[in-house]
Amino acid sequence: MHHFAYRDGVLFCEEVSLAAIADAVGTPAYVYSTATLRRHFQVFRDAMAPLDPLIAFAVKANANIAVLHVLAQDGAGADTVSAGEIKRALAAGVPPEKIIFAGVGKTRAELGFAVDVGVGQINVESPGELVELIACAQTRGRKAPVALRVNPAIGAGGHDKIATGGGDTKFGISLADAPALYQAACQNPWLVPRGLAVHIGSQIKDLAPLRTAFQRVRALAETLRADGWPVRHLDLGGGLGAPYFDEPDPPSPSAYAALVKDVFAGFDAAFAFEPGRLIAANAGVLLTRVIRRQPRPERDILVLDAAMNDLVRPAMYEAYHDLKPLQEKDAAVETIDLVGPVCETGDTFAKGRTMPRLEPGEAAAFMTAGAYGAVMASTYNARPLVPEVLVSGDRFAIVRDRLSIEEQMGRERLPPWANAEPTPP
Ligand code: LLP
Repeated sequence: MHHFAYRDGVLFCEEVSLAAIADAVGTPAYVYSTATLRRHFQVFRDAMAPLDPLIAFAVKANANIAVLHVLAQDGAGADTVSAGEIKRALAAGVPPEKIIFAGVGKTRAELGFAVDVGVGQINVESPGELVELIACAQTRGRKAPVALRVNPAIGAGGHDKIATGGGDTKFGISLADAPALYQAACQNPWLVPRGLAVHIGSQIKDLAPLRTAFQRVRALAETLRADGWPVRHLDLGGGLGAPYFDEPDPPSPSAYAALVKDVFAGFDAAFAFEPGRLIAANAGVLLTRVIRRQPRPERDILVLDAAMNDLVRPAMYEAYHDLKPLQEKDAAVETIDLVGPVCETGDTFAKGRTMPRLEPGEAAAFMTAGAYGAVMASTYNARPLVPEVLVSGDRFAIVRDRLSIEEQMGRERLPPWANAEPTPP
């Protein structure tokens, strides 16, 4: 459930009209709902009671410091994949011990930084990384808390590009290699072994592959314990799908929690989860305005002021994002294509979408854009990054400014030789 709804024909975010935000801030702009973020976090936490897990929000889904701050205040940790994300989580008030540092390509500098700030868990994905982590810990004279991310040889997810658990992906240590590596971690004086981590994909709508993956993790953890190695923590990743529209809803957090409790019944451990999309997707929208209508014999094209550089998911994953007019329309619908101004055909949000008729100048909201929206934006076609706005009750605030093209160009310069050398004949 989210807090974007029509009131007397006007689309609101909590107590604020989105049209008022579009007028004040301009379009395109991302808008997030505090109440929705908090509610989703609460629903997940309630579902997982009494496991009382660490819920480490996946910062990659939405890295805005104001968003992270809302979740941190409610007790969330942070799942991070770069020094930049760790810095954002810390700046938002996430305590270091609630930060998990994951990712397949952590550099030595990033590992060192994570040890320095005292993150709670570093998920190691390869033997080489373990060696580097030991070196970092030893140089600093500070032990590093480590979990092994295993690849359970089963993937899942809404698109091939976001399934991570399959045996042929770049992620994690195979189940066969994990015991020797875990033993090595346990025997090293510079490491504090915590346990295992797993994550098999994103936008998962079927619990069956999760059950298999979790069963394999439990079996591995039991083998390790039988061999005398401590496995106190299990980090079960993120991945549970969010409802986008026009498709069957993914399993609920309570169905997912029931699965976890069933698979790990009688297995005493401290659990962690890394949900991103589930918390943030339906807590955000991307406001846009129609620039113009291009008549076509087959169906008209609506050119919007938002583009693939602002919200890349349709171009990248063929993702569906509902577009709701800010002013509710009568029943008249039409079938159109929705595109942005970027100069490539891939800048298409939808082909053959049937929706209420929108006229040039009218504003609308791409729904379910709070996760993997602003974070994946680029400045392609010299389009500035768009602002982000946070709503709380009847208030709203710009929590990231629109970057001007001058600010962007201000970071570029001609090389020193540009004006000195004569132009070749
Ligand atoms: N933990 C790990 C180790 C991950 O790799 C991910 C997502 C998550 C947690 C959070 O997954 P979530 O709960 O959000 O599904 N850009 C893509 C999604 C990429 C997800 C990558 N990893 C999209 O827009 O669909």
